[in-house]
Amino acid sequence: MRKTIFITGGAGYIGVHTLVSLVEAGYKPLVLDNFSNSRPEALVRVEELTGHEIDFIEGDIRNTDLLVRLFVDQAMKGEPVSCVLHLAALKAVGESVALPLSYYDVNVTGTLSLLEAMRHAEIKNMVFSSSATVYCPGTDLPYTEHHVLGPSNPYGHSKAMVERILQDYCFADQGFAAIALRYFNPIGAHRSGRIGDHPQGVPNNLFPYITRTAIGSLPSLPVFGADYPTTDGTGVRDYIHVSDLAAGHVKAIDWLLDRGDRGFHSFNLGTGRGTSVLELLKAFELTSGMPVPYRICDRRPGDVAAAWADVSSANRILKWTAIYTIEDMCRDGWRWQRNNPNGYGS
Ligand code: NAD
Ligand code: WQD
Repeated sequence: MRKTIFITGGAGYIGVHTLVSLVEAGYKPLVLDNFSNSRPEALVRVEELTGHEIDFIEGDIRNTDLLVRLFVDQAMKGEPVSCVLHLAALKAVGESVALPLSYYDVNVTGTLSLLEAMRHAEIKNMVFSSSATVYCPGTDLPYTEHHVLGPSNPYGHSKAMVERILQDYCFADQGFAAIALRYFNPIGAHRSGRIGDHPQGVPNNLFPYITRTAIGSLPSLPVFGADYPTTDGTGVRDYIHVSDLAAGHVKAIDWLLDRGDRGFHSFNLGTGRGTSVLELLKAFELTSGMPVPYRICDRRPGDVAAAWADVSSANRILKWTAIYTIEDMCRDGWRWQRNNPNGYGS
């Protein structure tokens, strides 16, 4: 029988790609999302891509009673939740500085609510969406999972706090296991061009800014700083294809459910390679054939010169490796943008 995976925030950007990978791997996902940053249409497209109906509930992770009822119902139906994949969160760094209470409420209180419901229903496995943003900026690259933590904004703190809570909870309940997946910079879209990222308003992140400039919705890309100590002076990051990231979740769940190792574990999910802003821009122009006008601007406050991952733990332990290139990320991300200029409203 297919094992049920409960996925919070499953209608979001990373969620829908992970749903596709979960279904392809033979799992049965059950989604909870309040659609605060997504649309039900995204799940319809996952159904179309996988040929499977996706069960979903519109609801909030902070509603503990709802979660308990859902978990109990699943157990009564003979389809108990084997693992919770916890993606639901608020995720904009700048907004988190302006609205810290909202960020701690959704990201931290929401996780406590989820853990409380899991405790009630005796669900013992969680995979959590963490972020490279938990690491203290430093020059000793690449970041291993042992690099000292030191986030610099409320969003990052909320992720580090949840990791701490998971460690403490694993210690208190020796039957519980949690994996924190520390994503680097997910970009791109499913190769079908049917699902992808569509941030509201002007994008904060580089890749959607590039694709929206290419399609003509924005006049030119601001390049935040060309005087960093990097190969061409622009910021360097570890971009990872969102479908590789999705596959990493499946490997993490497989590992938890097959091996049954208890306790807290963290894994970096990246490619292990750094790419500068201008290198990404050039790769995009070459693969899409679209010119992207840009202008050099001041550095963005809070940015680091470079960050990329040491992915040897995920390679060795989870048996996971990112396979897609920067060109694949650009090609697939452009296909999504071109075919869906208004996102899921297209
Ligand atoms: P997203 O905003 O597209 O998806 C998050 C989903 O959670 C959305 O569908 C939203 O409607 C839902 N949600 C938000 N608050 C909720 C609540 N209270 N109850 C129920 N659902 C709620 O974001 P994403 O890019 O898919 O990110 C998924 C996870 O990965 C987040 O935890 C994010 O912090 C983390 N992450 C993302 C990135 C990135 O660059 N995208 C990088 C590192 C970590
Ligand atoms: C990448 C590079 C910018 C926009 C953020 C969050 C992090 C994580 C992923 C959730 C940098 C430059 C950007 C632009 C630019 N999210 N840039 N012009 O900052 O590495 O990470 O998203 O967990 O928490 O902090 O990603 O895409 O914003 O920036 O020149 O318009 O592109 O300076 O060098 P970042 P990003």
